[in-house]
Amino acid sequence: MTTKNTTENPNSRDTAVVILAAGKGARMRSDLAKVLHPVGGAPMLHHAMRSALSLAPARLAVVVAPGADAVADAVRSLAPDAAICEQAEPLGTGHAVRMAEAALAGFEGDVFVLFADTPFISAETLAAMVASRAAGADLVALGFDAAEPGGYGRMVTGPGDALERIVEARDASPEELTIRTCNSGVGAADAKTLFALLARVGNDNATKNTSGEYYLTEVIGLARAEGLSARVVRCDEAETLGINDRVQLAAAEAAFQARARRAAMLGGATMTAPETVFLAWDTALGRDVTIGPDVVFGPGVEVADGAEIRAFSHLEQCRVGPGAVIGPFTRLRPGSEIGPRARIGNFVEIKNATFGEGAKANHLAYVGDATVGAKANLGAGTITCNYDGFAKHRTEIGAGAFIGVNTALVAPVSIGDNAFVGTGTVVTRDVPEDALALSRTPQTNRKGAARRLRETLRARAAKAKK
Ligand code: UD1
Ligand code: CA
Repeated sequence: MTTKNTTENPNSRDTAVVILAAGKGARMRSDLAKVLHPVGGAPMLHHAMRSALSLAPARLAVVVAPGADAVADAVRSLAPDAAICEQAEPLGTGHAVRMAEAALAGFEGDVFVLFADTPFISAETLAAMVASRAAGADLVALGFDAAEPGGYGRMVTGPGDALERIVEARDASPEELTIRTCNSGVGAADAKTLFALLARVGNDNATKNTSGEYYLTEVIGLARAEGLSARVVRCDEAETLGINDRVQLAAAEAAFQARARRAAMLGGATMTAPETVFLAWDTALGRDVTIGPDVVFGPGVEVADGAEIRAFSHLEQCRVGPGAVIGPFTRLRPGSEIGPRARIGNFVEIKNATFGEGAKANHLAYVGDATVGAKANLGAGTITCNYDGFAKHRTEIGAGAFIGVNTALVAPVSIGDNAFVGTGTVVTRDVPEDALALSRTPQTNRKGAARRLRETLRARAAKAKK
């Protein structure tokens, strides 16, 4: 028996995504565009773009404010082929979507609209919207039941999550304000249908609103009046929280962290105090990684299986090898590559440096622009003098080398394999393999000199008192 033929394969419809990233964002009170404020170490715009990319869209258009070069750069850095559409004036979300119409010329399929200030929409939720479209709804809007509906648009629904219209909070009646189902801003419809409806927003008595903006939300009421169907797909409020001010930005960060910690632990990392650990959107933790309290991960950190990151460490753009132990109180700056079972201890700062297998820098060191061979040991107070005020220079430390405490390595300089650098040496010339480098002034002990010095000083102090 064969299954019934459907006239249209729901998966065959192409999708395009329009992300709205213009608008005033005035409540951020910031010189930085709202959509570039970071959450989990990435601009909120990038989170929204990653959700969009989960749909594998045939086209992606981002609507930006005029002259928002930083926003356009952020778009291109993640999606070089995205169309960047300027909205000359922030006349509202409906107006903003229309700015992408020309970029989508010739496109046939579904258009999804996402807001750059609503960064956490999951791929699963977007897939549920695709399914709802495939099941026959002409328009699909993503809603959520808000704990505090506040300023969100309210969704007026009928049986079976049929959607009648969306009313903005400032235009809502007292009864409408009691509705808990709120608009996330994410919606989908056939491209032709959507742009035909948008062309009517604001040109119709039924679509006047109190702010004078062209609201995207009004397409629902217009569609229903034409007999088209609209449906709400629901998701968790944690996905839809919108960011308009810095209080909401902090709430978004907290929501992001809660999810990231949970995912890290379910992925096999132990966190002794998860609520004190801060992760980035791309933090990659292997199996049986242990993270102590108060550890901060900036973007671009990979920690291999079995490594331990002890308390109060700060890591960004670096890799930690299997079984390595970092911290407590370690700072790994960009370009740090810590090899298998290496140990980096308290008050050690590493930047753009590679540590080989089993290498150690256990206390009080700065290692920048360097290569440290396997099993090399850097004593307390080892400092690479990598910067002369004009340029950075490299330090090469061979395998098995031993660097005594309080050593200054004046780069460019190299220490050969198994060489030994004596305590307090200022290394300005290369040290050959197996050599012992010393730059000390010979020590002299003057017999009884301490006693004589003390007597002189005591006599001087007594004289001064008189
Ligand atoms: C919007 C929705 C509201 C919903 C809420 C969810 C409308 C009219 N209202 O309200 O129903 O509950 O989001 O968070 O759609 N933007 C532009 N150009 C503009 C205006 C806005 O690109 O002219 C962009 C913004 O950058 C932002 C997004 O659209 O990413 C939403 O705009 P915003 O002004 O924040 O809308 P809300 O008042 O939050
Ligand atoms: Ca918003």
